[in-house]
Amino acid sequence: MSTILVTGGAGYIGSHTSVELLNADNKVIVLDNLSNSSKVSVAAVQRLTNRDVEFIEGDIRNEDFLTDLLRAHKVDSVLHFAGLKAVGESVAQPLRYYDNNVQGTMCLLRAMQASSARNLVFSSSATVYGDPATVPITEDFPTGATNPYGQSKLMVEEILQDFHAAVKDTGEWGISILRYFNPVGAHISGQIGEDPNGIPNNLMPYISQVAVGKLPYLSVFGNDYATRDGTGVRDYIHVVDLAKGHLRALENLQRGPKLAIHNLGTGTGYSVLETLKAFEQASGKTIDYQFAQRRPGDIAECYANPERALKELGWQAEFGIERMCEDAWRWQSQYPDGFAS
Ligand code: NAD
Ligand code: WQD
Repeated sequence: MSTILVTGGAGYIGSHTSVELLNADNKVIVLDNLSNSSKVSVAAVQRLTNRDVEFIEGDIRNEDFLTDLLRAHKVDSVLHFAGLKAVGESVAQPLRYYDNNVQGTMCLLRAMQASSARNLVFSSSATVYGDPATVPITEDFPTGATNPYGQSKLMVEEILQDFHAAVKDTGEWGISILRYFNPVGAHISGQIGEDPNGIPNNLMPYISQVAVGKLPYLSVFGNDYATRDGTGVRDYIHVVDLAKGHLRALENLQRGPKLAIHNLGTGTGYSVLETLKAFEQASGKTIDYQFAQRRPGDIAECYANPERALKELGWQAEFGIERMCEDAWRWQSQYPDGFAS
């Protein structure tokens, strides 16, 4: 059993990962400033697992507080989800993104150094591959960011690599960088899920809100890409598969200190129209759509080669697009207004 601090644990991916951690008998402490989430998700995690979670409302940039927390709870491992993630917002407010995502991670690393927490799993993103020359994408592809959000992830990856190089001779530190593709879906209970503020930026939450009648139709951003049907292709991954990937990544660090980088994706891409059709099937609803201009910064195709995660972590995604849509729909239809329902 480990004592694990989950930063950003009230959020979408952190809450689903907390469920898996608790089901595997770990002690979980959630630290979240609730800037993009609700405490209700933590209560739901406790209900689903029948286990206690210590919830602490606070900010990762408060280094002294973080150090005290890590020491007081004798935390050995940190899963670091806390961060801001909206690409468009990052273009408008770059300083806020660098402060939260980069400075926040620096505070966390210093607090870890000042305590005995030595394993860190970091939420990175396939966005660090920029516009890849080919697909599928392996971890050794060149990196490059196209917006401040992506740049903040890349900067943290570089900081983590430099930091690990400096401390690796201690034989104590394990750092795992997980590059998520497009997380979607929800826990099978439909009790926790993605709860975006305002109008969703991402495809699956947008489709869900059209299906439930909150939005009139989906705008499909571009139908002239060089893809099967002209719409953008992405590697959607079920959030529960993603959550399980974190447990495997942590076990990998516990087997021996190292710095590791892994893609977490399914290896299969679906177009916008294919995703919409899959959601129609799962929900039994007709989802209206209109073709619209390409969204600035979007790329045609992005999907993972997930072989390294299988080989080194023994992890691969189990759920396909049908199940992703069924679970997303269960959450959306049970809780049309998310955690405020
Ligand atoms: P989310 O917004 O639901 O969760 C992030 C959580 O972090 C929120 O609960 C928020 O309140 C909290 N938080 C933000 N800044 C904080 C701070 N300074 N101190 C304490 N708490 C803070 O987002 P998510 O989808 O669960 O994403 C989790 C992580 O995964 C993020 O780092 C994100 O960049 C990364 N990621 C997400 C996706 C995706 O599509 N969802 C893809 C790739 C990577
Ligand atoms: C998917 C496809 C759109 C909305 C983003 C971030 C990335 C990562 C995951 C955090 C694209 C199309 C979308 C809509 C549409 N997040 N679309 N109409 O852009 O692949 O990735 O989330 O790390 O960094 O950039 O995901 O869900 O926004 O878009 O046609 O209303 O759906 O053009 O082809 P994306 P997405």
